[in-house]
Amino acid sequence: MDAAFEKRLITKIEPMYKNGREGDWDHILRTVDLCRYLMAHENGDPGIVLPAAYLHDLGWAIVDYADFNAATPGVKTKTTSFLKHMEQGAILAGKILKELSYGEAETREIQSIIKIHDLPEKIFKMNKINATLVVEADRLDRYGKTGIRRFKTMFGKEKISGPYWEEAKKMRREGLGTWFITPTARLLAKKLATEMGLFD
Ligand SMILES: [Fe+2]
Repeated sequence: MDAAFEKRLITKIEPMYKNGREGDWDHILRTVDLCRYLMAHENGDPGIVLPAAYLHDLGWAIVDYADFNAATPGVKTKTTSFLKHMEQGAILAGKILKELSYGEAETREIQSIIKIHDLPEKIFKMNKINATLVVEADRLDRYGKTGIRRFKTMFGKEKISGPYWEEAKKMRREGLGTWFITPTARLLAKKLATEMGLFD
């Protein structure tokens, strides 16, 4: 992905994210940075991984996510908007990449990742490093001090204690074993988990 394309992509999507879910644009920028870090140590095609990272959550800007926010952490994946944000996000990503004249094969690969990006087990079954790195970077942003800040922005400051947070913490502890497969992501996830107090 060249710098000129990246700039045009950002110009298009930054306002869309900023009109969407609170905190999502900052999450996107961190996810892109995490992808760059992972690619410095693992293989992966920046022409796929980076646009996919930039576009992966755009679906949240066009679906009603009230049901997702109302659900407790363990059942968020059962909500309608959870599935819709991936489906709609993949379609929207296709449109945007077409407008930017991005390669057709590349666009299809990016869409195939976005369509299931919140289902790590399905992504890992694809056995494709590009898809793996996007999902790992996205999940890494649930950890560390920034992971705590993002959680508060998304669900409210009051959710950072009590049973809601305990459930979220448990998912993150379990996620260490199921959300990461490259050695680089595994190591970083463990470090960030410790930093955010997951084992205290
Ligand atoms: Fe994300």
